[in-house]
Amino acid sequence: NAATAASARAGGCPVDHSRLDPTGRPVSADAAAFDPFGPAYLEDPAGALRWAREKEPVFYSPELGYWVVTRYEDVKAVFRDNVTFSPSIALEKITPFSDEANAVLKAHGYAMNRTLVNEDEPAHMLRRRALQEPFTPEQLAHHEELVRRLVREHVDRFIDAGKVDLVSEMLFEVPLTVALHFLGVPEEDMATLRRYSVAHTVNTWGRPSPEEQVAVAEAVGKFWQYSGEVLEKMRRDPSGPGWMPYGIRKQPQMPDVITDSYLHSMMMAGIVAAHETTALATTNALRLLLENRGQWEEICADPSLIPAAVEECLRFSGPIVAWRRIATADTEIGGVPIPKGAKLLIVQASANHDERQFDDPDALDIRRDTAGGHLSFGYGSHQCLGKHLARMEMQIMLQEFTTRLPHMRLVPDQEFTYLPNTSFRGPEHLWVQWDPEQNPERTDPSILDRRLEVDLRGSTRRGVPRTVTVRRIDREADGIVRITLADPDGRLLPKWSPGSHVDLLFDEYSRQYSLCGDPDDRSCYQIAVRKETDGRGGSRYVHERLAVGDVLRLRGPRNHFRLDPDARRYVFVAGGIGITPIIAMADHARRTGRDYEIHYCGRSTDTMAFLDRLARDHGDRLTVYRSAEGTRLDVAALLAEPAEGVLVYACGPQRLLDALEEATRHWPEDALRVEHFTSDAGTLDPTKEHAFDVRLSESGVTVHVPADQTVLAALRSAGVDVPSDCEEGLCGTCEVPVAEGEVDHRDLVLTKAERARGDRMMTCCSRACGKALTLRI
Ligand code: HEM
Ligand code: FES
Repeated sequence: NAATAASARAGGCPVDHSRLDPTGRPVSADAAAFDPFGPAYLEDPAGALRWAREKEPVFYSPELGYWVVTRYEDVKAVFRDNVTFSPSIALEKITPFSDEANAVLKAHGYAMNRTLVNEDEPAHMLRRRALQEPFTPEQLAHHEELVRRLVREHVDRFIDAGKVDLVSEMLFEVPLTVALHFLGVPEEDMATLRRYSVAHTVNTWGRPSPEEQVAVAEAVGKFWQYSGEVLEKMRRDPSGPGWMPYGIRKQPQMPDVITDSYLHSMMMAGIVAAHETTALATTNALRLLLENRGQWEEICADPSLIPAAVEECLRFSGPIVAWRRIATADTEIGGVPIPKGAKLLIVQASANHDERQFDDPDALDIRRDTAGGHLSFGYGSHQCLGKHLARMEMQIMLQEFTTRLPHMRLVPDQEFTYLPNTSFRGPEHLWVQWDPEQNPERTDPSILDRRLEVDLRGSTRRGVPRTVTVRRIDREADGIVRITLADPDGRLLPKWSPGSHVDLLFDEYSRQYSLCGDPDDRSCYQIAVRKETDGRGGSRYVHERLAVGDVLRLRGPRNHFRLDPDARRYVFVAGGIGITPIIAMADHARRTGRDYEIHYCGRSTDTMAFLDRLARDHGDRLTVYRSAEGTRLDVAALLAEPAEGVLVYACGPQRLLDALEEATRHWPEDALRVEHFTSDAGTLDPTKEHAFDVRLSESGVTVHVPADQTVLAALRSAGVDVPSDCEEGLCGTCEVPVAEGEVDHRDLVLTKAERARGDRMMTCCSRACGKALTLRI
């Protein structure tokens, strides 16, 4: 680099180009030092980018020639907009090959091109929709037996050995065999394809030396050729099972969408997409769970926790740590200008450990309520099509291990090694050991007959509840009690951040309460509950029936009311019981030395919770307004002057929130933050929508869609199950055919021409223009 810089200067240019990003701004020392092939990144990609999430969330890496995106919101935003950020480079070689290696590829006629993952719109969505049916949970159910049988046969082979490398005995092999079956590869071709598939990863995401490049090119070239031969065989008789024959059968109806080039490229890329991802994901998950022994024992004791454990492991240690996009226009990400043509490395591993999104992100918590929000499967219209298949395999493998080898442990002091590359991550070996004498099936063979279910949807959206006991109930003010909850076995509860809430689950309903204790005290959670005389029962139950020692189920914590750490000053406004999240925020602001003020309104001293604690801890930063005494908060006066960097956090009755909304109209957008208990609250504004009916022509049912509900939600409440994923109009999963009526299309999936045809709609967001629609379901 020094030589390049010197020659640049010798050429007359005064600046050191090796240290400037393509927009001409200097590259920081940390950014210049970032090495995506180095040991720190390979061992712990999220940890290696912690500095970036904190200081420079979007940076240019001169080493890679890519912009690196590290925060959750930014990574998701890039995934979401696949037009500005095209995926066309997703499978490009990250390290360009030497001429010699390229010649080898050429000699084999290598022509890997667009598949799905690297295809632009509108071709991508047309192809994805044409080919997605075999990936639905219903269709995948056909593969469950095969997966179980394969897993069991492999475990049978080593169950009495006492010590194995799980990767070489099983974790590599099973997902590969499943992948080949899923694709429809004939048995007799499996062995050959197996041999070649590894080379593809190094070819695409690795940094092979020039000598290695020739060998890699040789293997990739053969892989390509052989994939072509297998495809030809399938073409001769495309009646067989599998996703590739399915595509071949569809080709005559849509030759422009399912092209020959697509089929050949997918034949090869599909094996990698389905195989290595799942193999590495399972290896990472087993390692993590065995390292967190307490949680391993929990899933052994209660296998219904497995789907949630899989999701948390995918968040914590996904097999794909980074993905790629290219900017198709000048744009920005997280406020950083990004020029047209910029290549982006979007690091899911870093996003999945972003403390702005996941509390205590470096702790494994199989009951983490927000784990399903991980980005390991990508997001938006390209989100992994195979995720249900991957989940099925991972769940079945964990079911088998927890049933038959609950006593296995990691071999101590083993060193984990990784294939150096930017994107795929998992140890190359995973040594475990156990005492075969203790194998449960030796004393109780009936465990082998146990039938466990696979859960492809349920637990992935929300975590599984945890059990807590009521440790104390304290009267906090008239009609308000403070409840202290703790783990029944005295275990620590997960950390949380100010603004978080939990859901308490009662028999038939759940209620949300903000946490108001000390976030650093992991021995308990505290909530405050006001008795609502006309409430829906939750508060009455808590006040009248709840007793110390009772056991409750709780979901969370989750946080949709986060303090923005970048604010210069916070104005906290609370009305009544709305003080609960605010007190935790104010405590945090005080502890971290931030500038803030608290305005707390209520009826009278007797009815206001936490007054003493607030006065003690927050002194003159606190102003209290008691309407019974005639002191009222003048919201308009308080917020008359918008101020740079000031954020208003408010929680309280709707009247107060409306007044704040009004008073901050002339403030920068987003200056007022109010509590939401669900993340999608506010996406449908019922005041701007109208209600309508959907008639279902196949079943003859009519479903009413109220102004505050999506078609998808209304169909589901009527018992009509329509699959969905993103629920934001991005992925195309919730599509249904439309027979009659004009659709108000709001998705980003359909092309203009498709919208004009009016024969389909995305139920998660699109609505009716008029009073009714008829759907062909
Ligand atoms: C796409 C991850 C397993 C098939 C993707 C993407 C990621 C991913 C990150 C790109 C998403 C985006 O651009 O937004 C994973 C992980 C897996 C896994 C972590 C295992 C744990 C599988 C399996 C299959 C599969 C088993 C089965 C064939 C696909 C396909 C796409 C894709 C076809 C392209 C979708 C499109 O662009 O529309 N996957 N994958 N994946 N994956 Fe997976
Ligand atoms: Fe993704 Fe509707 S478009 S669920």
